[in-house]
Amino acid sequence: MDASELRKTFLDFFGEKGHVVVSSSSLLPDDPSVLFTTAGMQQFKSYYTGELDPTTAIHSGLGRPLGSRRAASVQKCMRTSDIDDVGDETHLTFFEMLGNFSFGDYFKEEAILWGYEFLTKELKLPISYATVFGGDKDVPEDNASLKICKKIGIKDVRRAGREDNFWGPTGSEGPCGPTVEFYVGDIEVWNLVFNEYFCTKERRVANLKTPGVDTGAGLERTLVVLEKKHSVFETSVFLPLMHAITQGAENTLPRGATSFDQLWAPGMGALRNLDISKAMAERVRFFRIVADHLRAATFLIADGIVPSNLERGYIVRRLIRRAVRCARSAKLSDIWWQNGLGAIREIFKDTYPKMLDAAVEEAVGQEIEKFSKTLERGLREFNKKIAALSQDKTLRGEDAFDLYETYGFPVELTEEMAAERNIKIDRAGFAKAQESHQEVSRAGQEKKFGGHGLLLDTGELKAATSEELEKATRLHTATHLLHAALREVLGPDVRQAGSDITAERLRFDFMFSRKLTDEEKKRVEDLVNAKIQEDLPRKVLEMPYETALEQGALAFFKAKYPPVVKVFSFGDSSAGLGQVFSKEVCGGPHVERTGEVGAFKILKEEASSAGVRRIRATVE
Ligand code: ALA
Repeated sequence: MDASELRKTFLDFFGEKGHVVVSSSSLLPDDPSVLFTTAGMQQFKSYYTGELDPTTAIHSGLGRPLGSRRAASVQKCMRTSDIDDVGDETHLTFFEMLGNFSFGDYFKEEAILWGYEFLTKELKLPISYATVFGGDKDVPEDNASLKICKKIGIKDVRRAGREDNFWGPTGSEGPCGPTVEFYVGDIEVWNLVFNEYFCTKERRVANLKTPGVDTGAGLERTLVVLEKKHSVFETSVFLPLMHAITQGAENTLPRGATSFDQLWAPGMGALRNLDISKAMAERVRFFRIVADHLRAATFLIADGIVPSNLERGYIVRRLIRRAVRCARSAKLSDIWWQNGLGAIREIFKDTYPKMLDAAVEEAVGQEIEKFSKTLERGLREFNKKIAALSQDKTLRGEDAFDLYETYGFPVELTEEMAAERNIKIDRAGFAKAQESHQEVSRAGQEKKFGGHGLLLDTGELKAATSEELEKATRLHTATHLLHAALREVLGPDVRQAGSDITAERLRFDFMFSRKLTDEEKKRVEDLVNAKIQEDLPRKVLEMPYETALEQGALAFFKAKYPPVVKVFSFGDSSAGLGQVFSKEVCGGPHVERTGEVGAFKILKEEASSAGVRRIRATVE
């Protein structure tokens, strides 16, 4: 059974048991308390808390209510917490998770039985043993699960503590509970979470009104046992990628090995009897890191998270740059990543057909090439700095910052390279160097604004002059008017694909398949100016995100929104919905009346990537 068959078998099995099959949500979560989607339950979190009712609330992915208290999915997940373990047999940053969920419907009995049935009957895997929560000072032992496991015939049931058999919450608060885990051999393939509790920010645990079930089975780990492999890197979702990246690699195989393929096994598995030097083992670890990180970065970029120096974008950057450095250390060919992307496209073409379009490949490639250019010089500089170190074997913060600022070395990368030589780096000194640099350069930087108010939190906005702020606010409102005008002129299929506002201009990307005609551009420009002339008043309402969408507010599908959002509309003040010209989910800031925007002018219309057009415009 390969990956596609496993996904299908899983969804069919739980579909037959009354579960609504839901697509994977984006790696960019709606939940503002987490950086990435880390588990299948994330898109359902508010069903567990009772905040939303799955039978009536609109599910943002489906566009309609789930209509059931049971769901199943194969979810894309990203866990940065495992980044340092990548390279062993089972850890990955990006992975897929099979999950079946109950929101106040079935509970322990069915969940354990169905998990057992699926593994032993559908997949024909023997369960070696199960673990259950043994209790601690806050939460009692999960005796019910223990009994059920015994009843269905699992002989070896072990008790474990909070560390292993208690899950959640994701983020700062949320549902959590004891788990039951099934093991095949030594690999944990099935994790059943019984969400009985809610954990608050203060870490207080209280009973949940409607207990639920949240199952997670790592697809790659399940494939290891199904395909009888030793590591995730040998399974059908990785092997072609391992082939691809090592193609043309400088070929120094260990004695006795005939191909790189023999290297993906644990403790080098197939090569267990061969002579693996420490250097070769390290090289294999690098191959694995390269494969994992390239895959993760590609999926993240495909979900709209572009490399940058901030938050999520920084993680993407870090993954790519670490991959580039590992590729060099592992002596891969120069085109390892083109080969790798080709393999990723092939592996996932049926599962995520839209994922790897030209724009995604281009973004990945650009980031790789940018860093490849400075890597050599950066490494020389790194070696120089290391060589100059005195007795105490600590790299100064300013030096780490110089490597970051001049050569683009993420500080974690420098730290890792230093650690390979038993050298520490002064992280506090790095943070200080970074801070003082930011203060100096703030005034000179191009200042960016707008976009769901998220950037309000960055230092850049604080550093703006009041004049710049005022113009950015006008440009922000102009962006909304432009969006509405484009939909009126070109049709309601126009969808925002990006937005960027500086003190000089706005830039708006939208999905549309062809160049605009001059006449269309003029009509859009005229329409925006007409709405400015009409001096339409601003209205702001707060409401749940779902309600906003139900009421027809536009939202940017790639942005993360909190559960309660602001909706900005510009329209007639007597304001029936029909009179509203523009209505968008947004954080602001916006002018009070459109008359304040000033004359609107389109500067340029061009292609941004395949299927995406870009308009630059300004206001006088
Ligand atoms: N949410 C649980 C996990 O991630 C199932 O393991």
